[in-house]
Amino acid sequence: MTDYIRHDLRIEPTRDELSRQRFVSDIRRHILGDLANGMRATYHKKVQPALVRVNGREPEDGVEVHRAMRGESSYRFYSAMRVNCQKLVWRSVIPTIERNLEDLNRRVAGVDANGGGQGGSVTLDPDVETPPYVANHDVHLMPGCYHTEYGDDDVAAGALYDNGGAVFSMGLFGSERDDIGASIARFISLKFPELRPRRILDMGCSIGSNTLPWARTFPEAEVHAVDVAAPMLRYAHARAEALGARVHYRQMDASQCDFGGEPGFDIVWSSMFLHELPPKKVRAVFREAYRLLRPGGLMLHMELPPNCHTVPYESFYFDWDSYYNQEPYYKAFRDMRPIDCCTAGGFDESNFVEFIVPSLARNGEEELKAYVSRDDITVDENTGRLVPSIRWYCFGAWK
Ligand SMILES: C[S@@+](CC[C@H](N)C(=O)[O-])C[C@H]1O[C@@H](n2cnc3c(N)ncnc32)[C@H](O)[C@@H]1O
Repeated sequence: MTDYIRHDLRIEPTRDELSRQRFVSDIRRHILGDLANGMRATYHKKVQPALVRVNGREPEDGVEVHRAMRGESSYRFYSAMRVNCQKLVWRSVIPTIERNLEDLNRRVAGVDANGGGQGGSVTLDPDVETPPYVANHDVHLMPGCYHTEYGDDDVAAGALYDNGGAVFSMGLFGSERDDIGASIARFISLKFPELRPRRILDMGCSIGSNTLPWARTFPEAEVHAVDVAAPMLRYAHARAEALGARVHYRQMDASQCDFGGEPGFDIVWSSMFLHELPPKKVRAVFREAYRLLRPGGLMLHMELPPNCHTVPYESFYFDWDSYYNQEPYYKAFRDMRPIDCCTAGGFDESNFVEFIVPSLARNGEEELKAYVSRDDITVDENTGRLVPSIRWYCFGAWK
């Protein structure tokens, strides 16, 4: 709900708008909890035994499970509810944004592009092309996607992502919705205390929710973040300055960055970014990450666990967005083996890393510390799912 948003770009919903947002979050909780559990029970009680009876073996992948589940009313109901609820997520915040947009644009424009007090910056480049996979469809059904501008210096898309994201996440990611970045940056600082990054890059940063924790966890580091969408970056800069973090945002394609002759990065990071790219672009981003890192630097990407780590039912469950949520590359990305993505980018196989990291906001520092010494990658029903004891998956490689 947008009442979680506390920074200076917060816009005030009316009481009716706020109730609607809370209602949408509650419906989402019901869909992802009760309805999803009911659907899983149908699978285990009925669909899986029938598949084994007919085929003489267990289903091999998520596609086989999807095919069998498509006729089940529990699945059809779940899907219909989830699609409509996703549309409601955005609709529940749009009236508040429209009413406040002029004022919000003015407030953001009032934050100096070269430092609003914290010393961060935003540098836009109108020559950066919006890639077709952003321009041609509304990713996760978000009206206008990331890049649309409705006037000069517009931040509507940034506000939509922030406010809609608050409804979508049901309060599970902390008040700044930075739990992914906060948990993983903290985990890395504990696991590799000798890694004292001086320069960090976030690729596909959107409004910077998961950029800021890197600046806070490593206050000595210079933090940069790139995205192709100008409204996201304008909003991200004003948000960072309001939240007391120094970040340098630039409009760049992550597969073709230009940081001039500046020295390499110690950490190249992304969260929930790669799955939105066509596979060819994913490979180009990995090559670019390799180029941008200094020798000994670390590349790290947070994503849902890949299909090579999930049992067929979980693969089917996680691939849902690819079919119904305007995320056409989600399944193709989850089908790729993370280690292959890294080696295709130039990283050595022996330098591959992957981690399961418990949510700091939900599980606390002690559980996070307990995971620092674990090497196993056990993907269970808490990994990548929006449940109270969520755990994050991330992978990457040392250069
Ligand atoms: C799902 S959002 C990322 C979320 C964000 N990292 C976070 O943790 O909140 C994907 C972002 O990637 C951006 N994007 C897509 N293609 C890009 C590219 N080639 N280079 C840089 N940014 C890109 C989009 O504009 C969008 O803001």
